[in-house]
Amino acid sequence: MAHINLGVFVSGRGSNLQSIIDASAAGRIAASVHVVISDKEDAYALERARNHDIPAYHVPVGKNDTPEFVAADQRHVELLREHNVDLVCLAGYMRLIGPNIFAAYPEAILNIHPALLPSFPGTHGQEDAAEYGVKVSGCTVHFAWSEFDTGPIIIQAAVPVLAGDDGDSLAARILAQEHKIYPQAIQWCAEGRLRIEGRRVILEDARPPTIMEAIISPGLEV
Ligand code: GAR
Repeated sequence: MAHINLGVFVSGRGSNLQSIIDASAAGRIAASVHVVISDKEDAYALERARNHDIPAYHVPVGKNDTPEFVAADQRHVELLREHNVDLVCLAGYMRLIGPNIFAAYPEAILNIHPALLPSFPGTHGQEDAAEYGVKVSGCTVHFAWSEFDTGPIIIQAAVPVLAGDDGDSLAARILAQEHKIYPQAIQWCAEGRLRIEGRRVILEDARPPTIMEAIISPGLEV
């Protein structure tokens, strides 16, 4: 199985980044974080990266569709290339990424969202779900398309919404699941098991069948 290099975009505390770093260090994913990029200079995620000797950059982005945004998009691609990134992971990155990244990394950009998409897209997925009164919410890892929170879904985890929950208590329950499903999605990418067909992501079994499986299912080659 290939070992893949990750470039992670962050805007805040970086607990998802940490879960990816930890999964990599523990050998649970065949991937390692090669660069971390933030639009926010004081993002704690940058400190987490530096604590693990991972190159970490603040790239100011400016407003969408400004020269600063276009320059940031170009800088992003330079940094990703410089650090030999194979797969881009948006992990609590609260800005749009630009067209140059989409062109440089076709079907190789993942995003995590703290709700069961297509419900509750946007920047307040947990609060919106709690306020709406749904009984189940959760999180989603999907391939990023240029429009926020829209791309094909790789994996979701559901959690109950309990009586008395507010956005914060629900967010904490969801976050625990985020830390499980993001490394899983990355691992499937590393294994080359994901194929996009329109809106659907097919998880292929790239693992060679065992002798027993081959006996049970004639036609499989060991
Ligand atoms: C996570 O809950 C992530 O799903 C969410 O921001 C949080 C970042 O936490 N992302 C979005 O809302 C994107 N629309 P973290 O910095 O601790 O990983």
